[in-house]
Amino acid sequence: MPARLLIEGGVPLKGEVAVSAAKNAALPAMAASLLTARPLTLGNVPELGDVRTMLKLLQTLGARVERQGRGTTLTVERVTSDVAPYDLVSTMRASVLVLGPLVARHGSARVALPGGCAIGVRPIDQHLKGLARLGAEIAIENGYVVARASRLKGARIATDMVTVTGTENLMMAAALAEGVTVIENAAREPEVGDLAALLTTMGARIGGIGTGRIEIEGVPELGGALHRIVPDRIEAGTLLVAGAITRGDVRVTDVVPGHLAAVLAKLEECGVMVETGATWVRARAEGRPRPADVMTSPFPGFPTDMQAQLMTLLGLADGQSTVTETIFENRFMHAAELARMGASIATDGAIAIVRGVEAYQGAPVMASDLRASAALVLAGLAARGRTEVSRIYHLDRGYEKLERKLGALGARVERRP
Ligand code: EPZ
Repeated sequence: MPARLLIEGGVPLKGEVAVSAAKNAALPAMAASLLTARPLTLGNVPELGDVRTMLKLLQTLGARVERQGRGTTLTVERVTSDVAPYDLVSTMRASVLVLGPLVARHGSARVALPGGCAIGVRPIDQHLKGLARLGAEIAIENGYVVARASRLKGARIATDMVTVTGTENLMMAAALAEGVTVIENAAREPEVGDLAALLTTMGARIGGIGTGRIEIEGVPELGGALHRIVPDRIEAGTLLVAGAITRGDVRVTDVVPGHLAAVLAKLEECGVMVETGATWVRARAEGRPRPADVMTSPFPGFPTDMQAQLMTLLGLADGQSTVTETIFENRFMHAAELARMGASIATDGAIAIVRGVEAYQGAPVMASDLRASAALVLAGLAARGRTEVSRIYHLDRGYEKLERKLGALGARVERRP
C-alpha cells in the first residue's frame, strides 16, 4: 500500500516553523542550467519529488549534478540529448520548462506533450506560439513537440492568457535570442521574478520584472551563477491555514510577506488574526472562521494553489462562502473527499458553494493532486478523531517533510509506509 499519513485531529498548532524554498521557483531555476556551459549553483534546493524528477531529466540531457548539503550545482558543458521522454514528462508537467532552454542553447528539442493531469487539460499552446514567434520551427510528431531553430530572433509576443511556465519558457529562450523580445500579458508570480533575477545574474538583460510586460535583450552567451531560491509562498500559506483551522497560533519564518498579500487579506476576512514582520507571518484564531467569498486569479490575486486549502477553512465557517476557480477547469476534487469528513460543498463548474459545518469527522480519504492532498491534511488536523490520507506521494511532490513541520507545531501526525 502506498505511503499514507495518519492524523489525530483537534490539537491547536502552536509555535514557529521555517518555510522551504519554492518548488515552482526551483524547477525553472534548474532548467536554466541548460542555458550555459558554466556551473549553476542553487542554495536551499528543497527535497521534493518534483525536484528529483527534474534532476533526473536534466541528467538525461547532459547535466552533471553535484549535491553539497542544501546546495546543488548543475553543469551542462554540452547538451548530450535533446529528448525529454514521455515517462518523465507525464509524471511532471513542469518538464516542459526544458523546451525553451534546449532550443535556445542547443537549437533543437523533442519534448513529450505533457497530456492532461488531475486538475485540467493544461495545454502548452502558448509556449509553442511564443517559440514560433521567436523563429523556432515547431512540429508535433507522435506525441512529441519537435522544435528547431538555428538562432532564435527577438520578437513581440502576446500570450492569450497569463501563463506562469509559458512566461518562464519564453523568457529563457529570449535570453539567448538575437535582438529584443517583449512578452505582453506576462505572468507576475514571484517565482517568475525569481527566475528573472537568476537569469540576470547569469548575464541576461531583462526589464519589467514583476510587471505584465517583460523586455529581454538577448545576449550571445550566459554565464554561471550562485542563486538562493525564493521562499515557498504556497507552503507558507498552507502552514498559516493549519494554524488558523486548528484555532492555534503559528508563525512561519523565512517568508516574503508581500508574496502572500492576497492570502493574508482573505485570512483576515475570515477572522484570523494576522501579524507580519520583515521575514515572518503569524496567524492566530480562537473560534470558528467567518465565511468569505474568494475568486482565484493570477498574481497578485488570490493564488489557485491556495484554493483547496482556503476551501477547507471555509468548510468550518459559521456561514456560507463562494469559491470561484478561474484558472483550472477541474480543481475541486478535494470537495468530494472533504464531504466524506462532513463538509457541505456544492460544486457547479467553476463555482463551489461552501456551507460551513461545526466540525469535520476524521475518515480515510484519498489525495488526488498536490494541493488537494494538503487540504485533506488540514481537514484532518481540525477533525474530531483519526484521518488517514492515502496516496501522499502527491503531497511529497511539493511539500518538504510536511508531517515533520506539523509535528514540530504539536500536531499528532505520522507517516505510515
Ligand atoms: C504553474 O503551472 C504552476 N506550476 C502551478 O502550480 C500553478 O497552479 C499555475 O502555474 C497557476 O499559478 C509551476 O510553476 C511548475 P499556467 P502552469 O500555464 O504554468 C492555461 C502546483 O500546485 N494555459 O499559468 O502549468 C492553463 O490550462 C502547480 O504547484 C493554456 O491554455 O500554469 C491554465 O488554465 C499546479 N495554454 C491557465 O492557462 C498554455 O500554453 C494557467 O496555466 C499555458 C497555459
